[in-house]
Amino acid sequence: MLNLQSKFNEIVYLFNMRKKIVAGNWKMNTTVPEGVELAKAVLAKSGEVPAEVKLIVATPFTHLCPVAEVLKGSAVGLSAENCADKEKGAYTGEVSAAMLASAGCQYTILGHSERRQYYGETDEKLVEKVRLALANGLDVILCVGENLEEREAERHFDVCGAQIKNVLYNFSAEDMKHIVVAYEPVWAIGTGKTASAEQAEEIHAFIRKTIADKFGAAVAEETTILYGGSCKPSNAKELFAQKDIDGGLIGGAALKADDFIEIGKSF
Ligand code: PGA
Repeated sequence: MLNLQSKFNEIVYLFNMRKKIVAGNWKMNTTVPEGVELAKAVLAKSGEVPAEVKLIVATPFTHLCPVAEVLKGSAVGLSAENCADKEKGAYTGEVSAAMLASAGCQYTILGHSERRQYYGETDEKLVEKVRLALANGLDVILCVGENLEEREAERHFDVCGAQIKNVLYNFSAEDMKHIVVAYEPVWAIGTGKTASAEQAEEIHAFIRKTIADKFGAAVAEETTILYGGSCKPSNAKELFAQKDIDGGLIGGAALKADDFIEIGKSF
């Protein structure tokens, strides 16, 4: 049985059945006209990226409709950076999953460490957000990752394992087809420090195993797991060459179309 399972894993790996994704997380950057220009520049160069690599741009809420217009009919995906944990109603300032879908989004990032850290996003709230995103036809890019203190205390496996279990274990194998995981060590985000390829691979493999423990090896082997944290053209190749790294969630380097496209060409 074990043997069969490892053979299966090998075949999935050899045939590259997992989706490769490079997603740009624009965060709170660019005005609307600047964002439209950036999306146009990404689209113009997107043909340079191998066809099996899915490019996605995740923009601020205000940019979604005009950027959707730019990307219409293209293979470049559109994502939000967050969504509400409530369906609709008196929640001033929030944006619902249904609104995102109607604006032309196909994805939303959820659980980014900046939201966890600055806006009190808990795993509990994330379960609701993931549920609503999926119910509205959005695919989810769920972020997990440890901070520096947790890394130094060698608690990174515990922290990432708990984040995966607390959120994803509430969903089904079918739901997992619409969920991408992004491992983003907080100490590497926007700091210029990158996890080494070995550090990243080690935890990606662990995340995949945590998914396999609940949903089985086949689901885990088909789940796309992205690396995020100072990923740039100069280090993307080495990171993406790792067996369990299926692409990247890119912050700073996604604000320059050329760098973003270069990263897309790094498989
Ligand atoms: P960074 O951000 O590439 O600027 O480190 C990554 C992220 O936070 O998604």
